[in-house]
Amino acid sequence: MPDPLRIAIAGLGTVGAGTLRLLNEHGDLLAARAGRTLTVTAVSARDRSKDRGVSIDGIAWFDDPVAMAREAEADVVVELIGGEDGPAKAVCEAALAAGRHVVTANKALMAVHGSALAEAAEDAGMALNFEAAVAGGIPIVKALREGLAGNDITRVYGILNGTCNYILTEMREQRRTFDDVLEEAQRLGYAEAEPSMDVDGTDAAQKLALLASLAFGSRINFAGVYTEGIRRISLLDIDYAEELGYRIKLLGSARLTEHGLEQRVYPCMVEQRFPIAHVEGAYNAIVAIGDFVGETMFEGLGAGAGPTASAVAADLVDVARGRRAPPLGISAGKLISLPESPIERHRGPYYVRLMVSDRPGVIADITAVFRDEQVSIESMIQRARSETEAVPIVLNMHECEEAAMQRTLSRIAALDSVLEEPTMIRIESLA
Ligand SMILES: NC(=O)c1ccc[n+]([C@@H]2O[C@H](COP(=O)([O-])OP(=O)(O)OC[C@H]3O[C@@H](n4cnc5c(N)ncnc54)[C@H](OP(=O)(O)O)[C@@H]3O)[C@@H](O)[C@H]2O)c1
Repeated sequence: MPDPLRIAIAGLGTVGAGTLRLLNEHGDLLAARAGRTLTVTAVSARDRSKDRGVSIDGIAWFDDPVAMAREAEADVVVELIGGEDGPAKAVCEAALAAGRHVVTANKALMAVHGSALAEAAEDAGMALNFEAAVAGGIPIVKALREGLAGNDITRVYGILNGTCNYILTEMREQRRTFDDVLEEAQRLGYAEAEPSMDVDGTDAAQKLALLASLAFGSRINFAGVYTEGIRRISLLDIDYAEELGYRIKLLGSARLTEHGLEQRVYPCMVEQRFPIAHVEGAYNAIVAIGDFVGETMFEGLGAGAGPTASAVAADLVDVARGRRAPPLGISAGKLISLPESPIERHRGPYYVRLMVSDRPGVIADITAVFRDEQVSIESMIQRARSETEAVPIVLNMHECEEAAMQRTLSRIAALDSVLEEPTMIRIESLA
């Protein structure tokens, strides 16, 4: 057998400890698949004395992960610290400079510095594998980079954040509010104490930027992802969605349009006939559409020690085998810069909910604004009647351009009879 692959792991938290456990438990299996033994020779974390539920006896300990990346007896450095800059970035750069391969689960780092790191890896003749950074256990990076390499990819979209999908599922199934479900998810450790990376869409946007680069051969453009989170989604809208034949999902979607690269993360209504509408709980799912293959869908857990370690292990097997593709599918020097298609150019149907005072003439005032802006209504629901309280009016709008919809809604918000800021949710065309 060839020499063992020597592995240094920076970060022994959820993913780092999970990876150590997987490497311990599947040593023989991995050796058979990799053609050589995978051996952890060095580790680094902040607190040496912390019990991590897995033995690190006999493995060299480094207080400084960057020194480890430079000096450890290792062929590959696995970065599992996290964060866009700081030690994570320094570890990856030091490892590549020292002629070591890099495996990382760090979407924040890759979304911002991925193009530059890919270039550095190629220049150094080293691997930069990041399967675990996108949708955890789902092997979508490899699928886009290799399995679908024969296709012109026309669109990639999916449910990229398990916490948001869990919250939306619980709200619908258990009839609970956003705040209530979030608070419980935090208590159970499913959601971070500081939840904004998840619920405001940033985490999904980081993954989408990586998917778009892999799909379209473009430089990673995280800043160009239009992002909205799920905080404003109410139980009322979830109920109306259900009644109208939709389900509300936080989707990330990237495609090429006549205006340029469209990258969006927002909560939207998805017709219930599409399989992705039925991906529930903490699951992620990604649909990649290719011109020859048609539609492909990948579903699985996007986070947690097991699924993420599974992706890290697959990346390590590739390194051990010497299988090396350019990190972003094509050579970093050949990645193109695509113009951004702004959200104002988005076209599609819309769901609009207005809370109005229930008196004569209100509907006429509202429809007059839509008529003036040439935005046409497909259907309308007005059911509850109350002399004293605001009543909802739900409008399903025909396809129109976002700029026209925004103009219309700001005029409607200014009407005396409209008592709250209008709620607008895009209806996503997936066919
Ligand atoms: N958790 C998931 O389900 C998941 C899924 C997909 C991708 N990821 C990505 O995987 C990466 C790791 O996530 P995680 O959830 O495992 O994080 P975590 O549990 O917070 O673990 C982070 C680890 O990094 C160590 N660390 C922090 N600063 C350090 C420093 N300056 N020097 C040395 N070690 C340092 C910590 O040491 P101590 O333990 O001593 O404090 C800890 O072991 C992140 O990029 C994350 O986005 C996570």
